[in-house]
Amino acid sequence: MSEEAVEATGPQVRRLGDWAAADLADLAAEYDTPLYVTDLERVQANATRLRAAFPDADVHYAVKAHTGQAVLRAVRAAGLGAECASAGEVVRALKAGFEGREIQYTAVNPPATDLDTVVERWRDDAAGLTVVAGARDTLDRLRDRGFDGRIAIRVNPGVGAGHHAKVTTGGHAKFGVPYDRAADLLADARDDFDVVGIHAHAGSGISGEDLDAHRELVARMGDLARDVGDLEFVDVGGGFGVPYHEDEPPLDLGAVADATREALGDVDARLAVEPGRYVVADAAVLLTRVNTVKEAEGVAVAGVDAGMTTLLRPAMYGAYHAIRNLDADGRRERPVTVAGPVCETADLFCEERPLPDPRRDDLLAVGNAGAYGYEMANTYNSRPRPAEVVRDADGVRLAREREGLEALTALEGDE
Ligand code: LLP
Repeated sequence: MSEEAVEATGPQVRRLGDWAAADLADLAAEYDTPLYVTDLERVQANATRLRAAFPDADVHYAVKAHTGQAVLRAVRAAGLGAECASAGEVVRALKAGFEGREIQYTAVNPPATDLDTVVERWRDDAAGLTVVAGARDTLDRLRDRGFDGRIAIRVNPGVGAGHHAKVTTGGHAKFGVPYDRAADLLADARDDFDVVGIHAHAGSGISGEDLDAHRELVARMGDLARDVGDLEFVDVGGGFGVPYHEDEPPLDLGAVADATREALGDVDARLAVEPGRYVVADAAVLLTRVNTVKEAEGVAVAGVDAGMTTLLRPAMYGAYHAIRNLDADGRRERPVTVAGPVCETADLFCEERPLPDPRRDDLLAVGNAGAYGYEMANTYNSRPRPAEVVRDADGVRLAREREGLEALTALEGDE
């Protein structure tokens, strides 16, 4: 990427240490904890950097990483489309102002209500929307509903990558049409639909080391595109990783873009990518307050008010998130375990990590919380979901209210 582009789109990575401690402390005081703080200017910078790295490609933001309306509007303003994994995400994208032609709906074993909703919106206000189908059944079910619009076929490229087996999609039988059957299905689909593309996704959290797998996937997609011909785009998925460890270098986006173009080869179709994490990960932190401190065999256990229900990634994937004690200037470091309020051993943000000696009421910031953070929050142990504030040039505002206890039984009626 040129130096001008880097300047226009901000630094490649924003570390947890770059957030101003005093600002975060003010927000925690005003809005209480646990609290997600999302910086929309950083979302836009990340989106703009992607556009600059892939200037001639379609870039769709994988909405599932963060579906907040303010984030979706910021992403759209930066010129990205929306990749949606459900009818709910399509509805959110439309509400945020995306037009049908900017939306790609990736249907994975879609429940009937999802197809009903999407086809209804396609007829109504989302004309031009593209459906990515990963099975012949999905095409049949769309045809049954009278859909004859834009279709892309999701291919299982037989190669995957990702930060964890649970998010490595590429080679898994769950996803897409087997590579060697894709051309036939595509030819059949042309009878009833406007077939515009082919699609594959290797997995999520691809690092520099996974670049070979990414290249292989792209090369296979290039071969398929040349084989079938007459396509508008070749979508090679998302998955660009971000450095969760503070000393990890950022992904060289320019190098990924070059490798992608080179591996694709000469095709008469546009390249398309659909990153989620890259756009939002370092645009948010999670603030949580220490409520309990105890000694346990040389380790300090800091009990905090956020847990696996607030940020699931450490419990689900063993994911590393940087943690900073915003109140501990000058205190010595020692092994600290940060644990949430849920009655499960998995409910830990870190174990025996060198951190400043914790005290009750300390405010902690958890880094890189923007992607799959709020989105995977849930109410297990009857813990209401946290609040989220967003920040932009106009200041700070509440984007999602803290859920109240009454919400926990709201679906059960008055029994
Ligand atoms: N496209 C498709 C078809 C996908 O399934 C995904 C992610 C993406 C794009 C975007 O991938 P990204 O650029 O965000 O890596 N909850 C997990 C991640 C699951 C990703 C699922 N699919 C996590 O917290 O790591």
